[in-house]
Amino acid sequence: MSQTIYRNGEYVPEEKAAISPFDRGLLYGDGLFETLRCYEGKFFRLDRHIERLRGGLKRLEIPLALETADFAAVLRELVKQNNVASGVARIVVTRGVAEFGLLGKHAQDPMALGTCWAQPAPDPKRYETGIRCVVANERLSAAAHGLKSLNYIVQILARREANVADADDAILLNSHGHVAEGSAGNIFLVCDREVVTPALQPEILAGITRATVLEIAHAEKLPVVERVVHQNDLFHAEEVFLTSSVAEILPVTRIGSHWVHLGQPGPVTREMIRAYRALVQREAK
Ligand SMILES: Cc1ncc(COP(=O)(O)O)c(C=O)c1O
Repeated sequence: MSQTIYRNGEYVPEEKAAISPFDRGLLYGDGLFETLRCYEGKFFRLDRHIERLRGGLKRLEIPLALETADFAAVLRELVKQNNVASGVARIVVTRGVAEFGLLGKHAQDPMALGTCWAQPAPDPKRYETGIRCVVANERLSAAAHGLKSLNYIVQILARREANVADADDAILLNSHGHVAEGSAGNIFLVCDREVVTPALQPEILAGITRATVLEIAHAEKLPVVERVVHQNDLFHAEEVFLTSSVAEILPVTRIGSHWVHLGQPGPVTREMIRAYRALVQREAK
C-alpha cells in the first residue's frame, strides 16, 4: 500500500513524492539522515536525533529553515497518516538542486523528506542467541566526519562481505586498524569486567544508543572506558554487543570462527538490554 511521505512542507502519497534527478543527495550523497524506531506510535529521545541532525546540517552549511519542533510534528503526523504502531521512521535532508559541480553553488531549497512505515520489532531470537559478525576488510575513513551522511558505501560493502561469509553483520576498523563500529551500530566490549567502547573519532558516529548505554552503565556504577580498541580485544572480550536505535542492544556471540562468551549473550549485555527497554518504556513519547 502506498505510504504518505513528508516532502518539504507537504504530505503526499509515495508516488507523488518526486525528487529531482539533479538532487545532490542522489548525485553525491550530499545530505544527512536519521533513523528512529517507533514504539506504539512513540519515539525514544527524538530530541537527540533532531539535535544531531541539526548539528550535521550546520557543519555542511545546509540552510534548512525547519525548526526543531517541526521535525517532531512531522514524525507524529506521519505516524498518524500511515497508521504506524511498531515501525521505523526516517528523516532525510539533502542540499537539494544546485549548479553543476561539487561546490553546490546557488543551491535552491534543501530537500527534507520524512517517512514512517510499519515494521515488526527485530526477531527476539537474535537477542537470545546473539548474532554472528565478521571483521570487514573494508575500512572506515576519517572523511566520514562523524556525520550520519547519505554516503554508506563502505558500510554497504562491509555488510555484503558479512553476507558472503554467512554472518549477520560486519565490524569495521578505522585506517589505523583499530575497531571503530558495526555497519549500522556502535560497538561495546566487556573486558576484565569493564564496559569498553571505542572513543569518539571522525570515523565513528556518536550514536544516541551509545550515549544511552554509557548513561546506563554510569547509573549502574559499572566501570566504563572509552579508549582505542584493538582488533585483538575483540577476541579476548568477555562480551561484545552492538547498539543502534532500531536494533537497540544486540549481543554478538560469534566473530568469524571465534565464539564470544561461549556463544551466549553475557550478563552485562542482558542487563543492558533490560535497562534500555525499561528506559524506552518510561521515556518514549
Ligand atoms: C554507522 C552507524 N553507527 C552507529 C549507529 C547507531 O546510531 P544510533 O544509536 O544513533 O541509532 C548507526 C545507526 O544507524 C549507524 O548507521
